[in-house]
Amino acid sequence: MTTTTSKLEKDIINLARIALSGRTQDVMQMVHRMAKNHRDNAPDLSNGLVELMREAPTRASPLRRQTEAVLPVDVDTRFALLRIEETPALDHEPIFSAEVDEGLSRIVDERAHAQALLKVGLEPTRSAIFTGPPGVGKTMAARWVARALKRPLLILDLAAVMSSYLGRTGTNLRHVLDYAKSMDCVLLLDELDAIAKRRDDRGEIGELKRLVTVLIQQIDDWPATGLLLAATNHSELLDPAIWRRFDLSIEFPMPDARGIFSFAQAALAGHTEKSDQWAAALSGALLGKSFSDIDRDLTSARRTATIRGGELTDYLTNLVRPDTLGKPERIALARTLANEGLMSQRAAQQLTGVARETIRGGGTSMLKPTSRGKRARNGEA
Ligand SMILES: Nc1ncnc2c1ncn2[C@@H]1O[C@H](COP(=O)(O)OP(=O)(O)OP(=O)(O)O)[C@@H](O)[C@H]1O
Ligand SMILES: [Mg+2]
Repeated sequence: MTTTTSKLEKDIINLARIALSGRTQDVMQMVHRMAKNHRDNAPDLSNGLVELMREAPTRASPLRRQTEAVLPVDVDTRFALLRIEETPALDHEPIFSAEVDEGLSRIVDERAHAQALLKVGLEPTRSAIFTGPPGVGKTMAARWVARALKRPLLILDLAAVMSSYLGRTGTNLRHVLDYAKSMDCVLLLDELDAIAKRRDDRGEIGELKRLVTVLIQQIDDWPATGLLLAATNHSELLDPAIWRRFDLSIEFPMPDARGIFSFAQAALAGHTEKSDQWAAALSGALLGKSFSDIDRDLTSARRTATIRGGELTDYLTNLVRPDTLGKPERIALARTLANEGLMSQRAAQQLTGVARETIRGGGTSMLKPTSRGKRARNGEA
């Protein structure tokens, strides 16, 4: 072993030791030193390290920031208050209604044209609040926006913060917002209604008023360079003074038939030959369920099919609950099942209770499984 390799080995061990201790700034320094010291004996390594340092972490990165501003923690428990997603990612593309898509795209577009807006004395939307029932994509939308803007997403779960001692909450909230203001990021105040829900408790009215005041001040001071998002599924509980503070409010509806169709089409693709036809049948059969419920149902059908064996479609049939449907919807479902070749007319009759003569009668069935991709309003930015 030559002396230079042993020096390299020592450096690598040293680097690993520093990295394991979690001191990012020291790691950077060590990488820098190694790039310099091994330029002659290991030029490829040296170039690679230089390249790495140039790429990451960037100035705006919380990892880098962490070395400057300390990550906010709960004053009592010292638990981190924020979840940081450095490069937000989605496991599947969201399906948004036309209105939601328009609102979200507006936020992203205004950021892209921020200079043009500033030139004429306007600022891009600084804050937006997402409302709607559980499981329809509010948190997902925040991730989608952050990804489109190529910024880290910081998530403050207010339900968790509010469960701590109330007297500390205002301080915690201020720490988090100050921290988020100091960097180029998207901050999501998730479950904002948790603040309002706490109102039922006796003896805490004064504390809560102070908290709401802190929040209002912080929203007002929010810099135009940052983007503040909030999500709630109980908009009616929110203090109107908080509500008014947001530049934009976007209402997330329950999925409609087209939304369910696109979602099921993407979720079933590659798992059954008749994924489009099943998506068409389910688009009516699962109306009234949220995306997250539908996601859970489809995943659970796939799990069962994998464990018990047999066709996935046998288990998809179990998801159809005709008793929850009105008569016209049941007829449409029966026709889709039979006419799209998912089952015999007899089986469709047995499942839905719709007479075979009615099934044969024709007429409109559910969404036609012909428009792959067209209906998915996933608005890639
Ligand atoms: N619009 C959507 N498009 C595709 N998938 C969705 C959509 N909405 C929800 N989902 C699925 O449901 C899961 C939960 O969604 P999300 O956390 O965004 O819901 P939410 O509206 O924030 O609900 P909550 O109010 O309970 O926080 C997602 O991970 C995704 O799998
Ligand atoms: Mg959510």
